[in-house]
Amino acid sequence: MTPLLVALLSAHAADAPTFSRHVAPILFKNCVTCHRPGAIGPFPLTTYAEAKKRAELIADVTGDRTMPPWKPVAGHGEFLDSRTLTAAQIATLKAWAAAGAPEGDPKEAPKLPTFKDGWQLGKPDIILKMPKAFTVPAEGRDVYMHFVFPLDIKTEIYVKGVEVRPGNLKVAHHAIGLLDGSGAARKKVDPATGGYVGFGGPGFVPAGFTPGFVPGATPRFFEPGSAITIKKGTDLVLQMHYHPTGKPEDDLTEVGLYLTKEKPTRHMFGVLLGALDIDIKPGDANYVCSDSFELPVPLKVSSVWAHMHLIGKEVRLTAELPNGKDVKLLKIADWDFNWQDTYLYKHPVILPKGTKLKAVWKFDNSAANPRNPNDPPKRVLNGESSTDEMGGLWLGGEVANELDMVALLLANVGHYFEVESKKKAR
Ligand code: HEC
Repeated sequence: MTPLLVALLSAHAADAPTFSRHVAPILFKNCVTCHRPGAIGPFPLTTYAEAKKRAELIADVTGDRTMPPWKPVAGHGEFLDSRTLTAAQIATLKAWAAAGAPEGDPKEAPKLPTFKDGWQLGKPDIILKMPKAFTVPAEGRDVYMHFVFPLDIKTEIYVKGVEVRPGNLKVAHHAIGLLDGSGAARKKVDPATGGYVGFGGPGFVPAGFTPGFVPGATPRFFEPGSAITIKKGTDLVLQMHYHPTGKPEDDLTEVGLYLTKEKPTRHMFGVLLGALDIDIKPGDANYVCSDSFELPVPLKVSSVWAHMHLIGKEVRLTAELPNGKDVKLLKIADWDFNWQDTYLYKHPVILPKGTKLKAVWKFDNSAANPRNPNDPPKRVLNGESSTDEMGGLWLGGEVANELDMVALLLANVGHYFEVESKKKAR
């Protein structure tokens, strides 16, 4: 090698990002909540040796934005706890892998963040426990279980916060919290497992939702004045999604409720949109359905949750304001059933009366879709099992007063009956 080339190469190597100085800060901030011993990520990324082994893979999965898992497309709603890397961070990881994943000076590496054990919101007023540990099998498909937590309360209670504490972060992928006032859920419990299996729905019409669990998301108290009222006779139901690890794993999840004496003064409401008139031909790679709902009163939007099953591909929600302007509320372009968070808007979105909410769901029922549960593809209709489909959207927000609440409730329930009536017969 000529001296010039050596000089050039070493200059280049000196420029390459190192683990200690450039890569560790990115991984520690964005990856280790899940990629640490005992958490849901399939391997830890807490040390140089662990990261070096997978440098190329890290560059690939951050480059195509499959990691960190974060579904909403930028420009369609601005959300709290957003897990996205900047283009510069992605470029750094790529350049580091390309340079052979150098370590640099270990003294330059930041300290690994510490993770607080125990209840993040402090000691709860009520702690609900699963009746017994549930064993997630070593192998096989993901497991979707419902566990029923009877509340055993004498009067209605006002809940200012909910924290779900998974018993085993290696297998607890996420949890959705539901309220059942009908008693239907507890009847479904199988004493052998302490819960019941259910994929796309809980098997009852929820009386409400409570915060669940998503790895890496921060539990929060509700805004002052917006406690959830839970009536006597209500059960809390957790829909748990488990991811087998290769070894049988036990889970004993707890739910903490934080109470307040103050009756809620704010009027929180969830608007439901849906498409149940689903009828997808085998092989159809771009099946589209939609729904729209006009707000009869103003709504201050704070959160959004979308729902499809396995062959869902894209979901979009737009608010068409009375002045003709569009507000983009959500877009997920690569739907993954396994990452259905409730997304909290960074700033509330004010929608005036007369706003038209427009939702679009797209499905890919082709053989080329690796997530298609039918091989070969089959005709798909609406339903709750993993081989059926659903298009749903739930928009959480607040209305100004009791009258507006009633008006919105009537309109939205009426709307949903219409959606239900269009279900395709089997
Ligand atoms: C919210 C939890 C979470 C965060 C944050 C997260 N991961 Fe992951 N990661 C997972 C899970 C779970 C899997 C297993 C596959 C799956 O379920 O999608 C995974 C898989 C991977 C894989 C293996 C992919 C493959 O195809 O085998 C790599 C590499 C990876 N993550 C890197 C990262 C990096 C780098 C970051 C940060 C920039 C990150 N992850 C952030 C949860 C997470």
